[in-house]
Amino acid sequence: MNVLVTGGAGFIGSHFVERLLARDTSARIVCLDDFNDYYDPALKRANVAGFAASDRVRVVEGSICDERLVVELFGQGDFEHIVHLGGYAGVRTSLERPLVYEHANVHGTLILLEAARRFPVKRFVFASSSTIYGSGSPVPFVEDSPLGVPLSPYGVSKQAAELAARHYHQVHGVPTVSVRPFSVYGPRMRPDLAIHVFATAITAGRPIPLFGDGSYLRDFTHVSDVCDGILATLTAEGAVGQAINLGHHEPIAMLDLIRLLESELGAAAKIDFRPAFAGDMPITCADLSKARRLLGYHPRVGITAGVRDFVRWFQGSRRM
Ligand SMILES: NC(=O)c1ccc[n+]([C@@H]2O[C@H](COP(=O)([O-])OP(=O)(O)OC[C@H]3O[C@@H](n4cnc5c(N)ncnc54)[C@H](O)[C@@H]3O)[C@@H](O)[C@H]2O)c1
Repeated sequence: MNVLVTGGAGFIGSHFVERLLARDTSARIVCLDDFNDYYDPALKRANVAGFAASDRVRVVEGSICDERLVVELFGQGDFEHIVHLGGYAGVRTSLERPLVYEHANVHGTLILLEAARRFPVKRFVFASSSTIYGSGSPVPFVEDSPLGVPLSPYGVSKQAAELAARHYHQVHGVPTVSVRPFSVYGPRMRPDLAIHVFATAITAGRPIPLFGDGSYLRDFTHVSDVCDGILATLTAEGAVGQAINLGHHEPIAMLDLIRLLESELGAAAKIDFRPAFAGDMPITCADLSKARRLLGYHPRVGITAGVRDFVRWFQGSRRM
């Protein structure tokens, strides 16, 4: 089974590649990533270190926006599945750099969808995001209810790309599935994500910048559960043409999350309360009925065990 994983050097992508290699011994993977400097590319090189030398993986350094390269890879690759995780993530930065987000997340996705139209695949999984629910969406977020207005250019880019994926399914028969991960965390998580930022500040004795009063609720989802959900979309009957939440359905308030980190790290947090941020949603919470029904998805890692797992990795990585 030949699989193209875009963004395979990133946080979720590198976990996904490892999981696919372990679960399917027939898997041959092309990992396409441009190793950009949204965060330190050395971290991305470390992410691929575990599999870059495998004879079942080819790491290609290049952009999904490079049409010639993408067509060449599809032409050579005989891909059965596309797992498209590459792109710019991060709500806040997108408000400063909307065009960068549009280019990678919308234009880049269209280039991949066009290639999948020319070189048919069995499944094209697109990593959308919980951010597409935007303001005004009833909680918990249900996939097939009308979407609100995204609060960030990142959310706009994901809504647009998801729509493009649906279009390619309906009009061209490309077997697309959009998964909507919710606040993913775990070992190797991006340094700009809350749990990582908080742990770094607590360890250094620096104040944690906290936007709002700490009551915002987030449906944190462990990376292993998200990867299992993505794996299930590759074979699940009935997933094609759908958007499917990959969350945990147990939102936690940011202040409670900080208390959990304090207890795992054995150090007290100083909190620097800042005004609420316009792009932040007060709550995210996934309705999981559809994921259960279509994928047999049952997230296994609760927030306490998940934060412990993250802290074990975080402390280990700082000793290296
Ligand atoms: N982490 C989360 O909480 C979360 C939640 C919802 C959705 N997502 C989505 O899941 C995907 C993976 O997120 P992540 O947290 O692992 O982020 P990440 O930044 O660690 O991974 C994304 C990878 O894509 C690569 N990339 C960016 N632009 C590219 C391009 N033009 N060509 C090739 N590669 C490119 C980056 O170098 C990076 O390695 C993203 O699409 C993100 O929007 C993430």
